[in-house]
Amino acid sequence: MKSTYQVLSPGDIRSAREHDEFASDLLFGLSQPVKEISSKYLYDDAGSQLFCRIMELPEYYPTRCETEILLRHGPAIVESVGDARLNLVEMGAGDGTKTRILINQLRGRHVDFRYVPIDISESAVSELCTELVQECPEVAVKGLVSDYFVGVDWLSHQNAARNLILFLGSNIGNFDPTRQVHFLTDLWNALNHGDYLLIGMDLKKAPEIINQAYNDRQGVTAAFNKNLLHRINRDLGGDFDPDQFVYYSAWDPFAGAVKSCLLSKAPQSVYIDGLCRSFDFALWEPIHTESSYKFSVADVHKKARHIGFEVVENFFDARHYFVDSLWRVVKE
Ligand code: TRP
Repeated sequence: MKSTYQVLSPGDIRSAREHDEFASDLLFGLSQPVKEISSKYLYDDAGSQLFCRIMELPEYYPTRCETEILLRHGPAIVESVGDARLNLVEMGAGDGTKTRILINQLRGRHVDFRYVPIDISESAVSELCTELVQECPEVAVKGLVSDYFVGVDWLSHQNAARNLILFLGSNIGNFDPTRQVHFLTDLWNALNHGDYLLIGMDLKKAPEIINQAYNDRQGVTAAFNKNLLHRINRDLGGDFDPDQFVYYSAWDPFAGAVKSCLLSKAPQSVYIDGLCRSFDFALWEPIHTESSYKFSVADVHKKARHIGFEVVENFFDARHYFVDSLWRVVKE
């Protein structure tokens, strides 16, 4: 008898696993007393495109502020880190626009460096590498498709070059305070004494400025959040009617965060085929989508010191809306 066999490629397995992870995260989130959908699911193709539009909105200041900081203070940042051989490591690569500013500074100073974008998304890493090699063919680029800490840990044991980790865009603010500490501790642990972290943090400011940034007049941010419901319908066979939900976002001074959610405009029940069950929503019940924590300058120092980093210097935009804080790893 002829035996047959089947080979599944890592790609098939990976996409099945990603699908299962979305299903299990969603089941968990929608079963919580306060329902939530993890913000990591905001960024499918449509969501990433919407986020690019958010970054260009007149109300959404963080991206422009950070670009301003890097343009103004790029030379000082590079100077502080010194001229030793360097791995410029980018966590959560994005489109690399901001990083390019620093890359150009390093090239100008003739620092021996290589650029190391790390992301779990293979396509994000390879796109970034391809673009960069085309633009700056003389820059050494080594993309890592990996969990951040595994990647950084591997790198720290690879060679004697100093690491400068970029964690920009106030991504740290999308973790709750406990996870912020976990994240930064894991990073500290993976790094060597004398390595650097340049971390972007959005600063506390007048509530109306923050509220406008998260409630743009064109409704792009609302569409970005509602895209989660479209994604559930498409990927998991949900029957959400996105028109039956409204986006709501407000600064909460007690939590020190902007809390964003989708509110149910009616009592309703939604069936999700991929989860084999339905979920009830009461009138005006929220589904939490994201909290964006904001920091005071004192918070920045407290956080760094608590974990074992030394604050080398804070770099601000002209309005002091945002900070890129340069931290140095101190190990005894
Ligand atoms: N995480 C980003 C931020 O906190 C992205 C974002 C902008 C966002 N507007 C949003 C996330 C509204 C959820 C809801 O700035």
